[in-house]
Amino acid sequence: MNALTFKNGDKMPIIGLGTWKSKPGEVYQAVLWAIESGYRHIDCAAIYDNEKEVGIALEKAFKDNMVKREEIFITSKLWNSCHRLEDVQPALKKTLRDLKLDYLDLYLIHWPVSFKHGVGFAQTREEYYTYSDVPLSQTWEGMEHCINAGLTKHIGVSNFNISKLTEIMKSASLAPEMNQVELHPFLPQNKLVDFCNKNGILLTAYSPLGSGDRSASIKMPDEPSLLENKIVREIADRTGLSPAQVLIAYSLTRGIAVIPKSVNKERISQNLAAMDIRLSTQDMKALSQIGTSFRYVSGSFFTGAISPYRLSDLWEQE
Ligand code: A2P
Repeated sequence: MNALTFKNGDKMPIIGLGTWKSKPGEVYQAVLWAIESGYRHIDCAAIYDNEKEVGIALEKAFKDNMVKREEIFITSKLWNSCHRLEDVQPALKKTLRDLKLDYLDLYLIHWPVSFKHGVGFAQTREEYYTYSDVPLSQTWEGMEHCINAGLTKHIGVSNFNISKLTEIMKSASLAPEMNQVELHPFLPQNKLVDFCNKNGILLTAYSPLGSGDRSASIKMPDEPSLLENKIVREIADRTGLSPAQVLIAYSLTRGIAVIPKSVNKERISQNLAAMDIRLSTQDMKALSQIGTSFRYVSGSFFTGAISPYRLSDLWEQE
């Protein structure tokens, strides 16, 4: 199974190129290397501040007949400052202009957290909206309009827990089709995965390699390393895979899509080469018993003292 299948039969290749943290000046080449090496899925977001450069790379790939538009799956995400009904479609149209596309394959609400229009990262209490100002159901309605307007083929969410998914599903005409969340052996998210599986919501794992290139300002001192974890390394050494391939295969084995980020030609190819790898029951068991529990993208930047949101609004206890 090298693709996930949506309810209407559309397929999403199970490995995509992540572009969070890919710098302008690097992401253009990374996207072209990825397409050249066989990637047919690129994961983007407006807040990554590099969609224009991704768009120039896609334009080149189409012009040079490396790939046709209908052969590649492109995801992007709605930023927190465009959650009001009237702001959703304009935000998607801006992303389409930047990516130089007529439509997206998948559009996601990036976070269940709202900022006032035009705010990048809220720095004061006044720059936030609360859930009573802008309910998630309102944002979801805007997402549904995007499908009806033909701007995206599928819609979903990112960083949503079970209660937020349930809330949206109550009023939705179209149920969320995807939840993109942090997922790896330090954060298996078993309850969320079960809930999504039972409700026909596909999953994509972000930060599958532990996002070691996050800026120092959002890192904790002494973070555990996934790539250097003893059990991951033991499986890699025994199977002849790289630690990154073991981590990618961990999600693939669970039927979950993965979007490893790389701007390095060899690592881009190496990550895609994990496409057909599935781990044995024994190795999956060893990874599930790793004993280290860690969330790299804590969400604490949206839940500080000035924010109306608490960490308990974002994550449920496993
Ligand atoms: P680089 O872009 O230089 O390849 P995540 O996908 O969890 O956010 O992790 C991205 C980080 O992992 C980046 O620092 C990226 O560096 C690195 N990385 C990507 N692929 C590999 C790989 N195959 N082996 C080791 N590190 C990798």
